[in-house]
Amino acid sequence: MKKIFLIFAVIISVDCLYSQSFFRSHSEINPFQYKIVKKEYYKNAAVSSAHPLASLVGAAIMKDGGNAFDAAIAVQLALAVVYPGAGNIGGGGFLLALKADKTFFGLDYREAAPQAAFADMYLDSSKKVNPTLPRDGPYASGIPGTIAGLFETHKYAKLPFKKLIQPAIELAEFGFVLTASEAHSLNEERADFIKNSSSKNISFTAKEIWKEGDTLIQKDLAATLKRIQKKGQAGFYEGETAKLIVAEMNHSPLHKGIITLKDLKNYKAIYRTPLTFSYKDYNFISFAPPSSGGIILAQILNMIAPYNLSSKTIFSPDAVQLIIEAERRAFADRATYLGDPDFYKVPVKELIDPTYCHKRMADFIPNKAGNSQDIKSGTINESEQTTHLCIKDVEGNVLAITTTLNDGYGSKTVVSGAGFILNNEMDDFSAQAGVPNMYGATGGEANKIGPNKRMLSSMTPTIVLKNSSFYLTAGTPGGTTIPTTVLQVILNVIDFNLSMEEAINSPRFHHQWFPDVVLTESKFNAETVKALKDMGYKIIQRKAIGRAEGILISSKGFETVADIRGDDSVAGYE
Ligand code: DON
Repeated sequence: MKKIFLIFAVIISVDCLYSQSFFRSHSEINPFQYKIVKKEYYKNAAVSSAHPLASLVGAAIMKDGGNAFDAAIAVQLALAVVYPGAGNIGGGGFLLALKADKTFFGLDYREAAPQAAFADMYLDSSKKVNPTLPRDGPYASGIPGTIAGLFETHKYAKLPFKKLIQPAIELAEFGFVLTASEAHSLNEERADFIKNSSSKNISFTAKEIWKEGDTLIQKDLAATLKRIQKKGQAGFYEGETAKLIVAEMNHSPLHKGIITLKDLKNYKAIYRTPLTFSYKDYNFISFAPPSSGGIILAQILNMIAPYNLSSKTIFSPDAVQLIIEAERRAFADRATYLGDPDFYKVPVKELIDPTYCHKRMADFIPNKAGNSQDIKSGTINESEQTTHLCIKDVEGNVLAITTTLNDGYGSKTVVSGAGFILNNEMDDFSAQAGVPNMYGATGGEANKIGPNKRMLSSMTPTIVLKNSSFYLTAGTPGGTTIPTTVLQVILNVIDFNLSMEEAINSPRFHHQWFPDVVLTESKFNAETVKALKDMGYKIIQRKAIGRAEGILISSKGFETVADIRGDDSVAGYE
């Protein structure tokens, strides 16, 4: 009897411990008053993410004895609350880990197509893609992978999962103050949340017009997070939460969704061997398929390597043109060869082979725009809103994580009673050969829809080593502009000797084969834009390309940087 009482007492006190307020014991973080920090040097632990509160939570978790894996879990869960446009539990992501012992691995918790998915599911009766189907409402959603990914990540962590989810629960339950840009985004999406969700009680539409400084409270989300806290992975993929997801499928005011209870129960995160390649004295570790990012990065670096970029001036027409032409060719290969490697044999080794990549540039003409109609994929023997975070801990673990709902706020479908948004990742498949998705990317056989298949991604979490040790990490959202943004941030450091802050904040450009245009940010060098036009390039100006985060080793400590393009913010400790 005494023994039973003792066990109960222990259980109750452990439970109380976990439900103890995270924010009460971390008075240095105030969800109702916080500031954005764009750059800092940290000696020990560092976090850069899309939201100040999420970065602060990550740093606090590491100060409490957690490692980078603990912080990664807490930061992603906090982002699911404070950055609902991309932070998520209804989406998926990729985690790239360089462990303190210098081993590394990739974890793929990307959404998977439901069992009932089929190749032509987004075609109308005239066999044309109906673009609203893979983008709006729950028929656009893949099976969410994030929670499975976080529980897999937890195998490398030190603190109980219950503790890591607590900050997110409190942020959802008691609220946090909105930034101006978050308030603006919620206002912009209001009509879509209402149109695409069955619920009449959506926290994002609780106010008609949100303003900076308003408090967002998400009670249903808090309840879902508590179920996960109590029941673990089953608190999401089974029981009440799973039932609510399936109910949202059936009650959708748009096309009904097809995710079933069985789909949810069967979902698993998958380990992927990262792609490794070198450029100059640097060794790269990046994400393998179903990401296209690592392959695109490797191909472009191999294509430009013979031209010694560092001998050119940064942003000069010849430096920019060289990169544009390499980008064009890498994206042509993406459309043909890349897809989920578990369903389609992706010729990775051949595609990133330096000799193959050098040959791809044989028809490159300096000072003259190439033409995508003439540039097909190579022949080899034998296819807006996401968020990136990077974390370094005192033990030497480094994590680069990109996570997404695909579009901003995904399918704009809030699961009724569960309070979280479902992704619209199905649009990353090729709905029909040659028909562009929302990022203008095309594909074919390699990336066609099929049950349980994972849609091709551009997410490119990347870590670079020098002399076998950590040198830098970078990543970004931005759909198809992701690999080219990561490329430019890294080239700015490696070839043009910029600090991480300068490398991230410099203006960017992008080419992706089709459409055959160069996107440039509005602040991009005007003389270079003119020179590119004279060479025959069509230029389209875009306000922002990507929102990158990065960490670079330096003599002052780890230079930890958050992009100026958003509310992104860093945190850490000496
Ligand atoms: O996985 C992908 O490539 C896309 N779903 C990413 C979407 C994205 O980055 C949107 N952000 N601006």
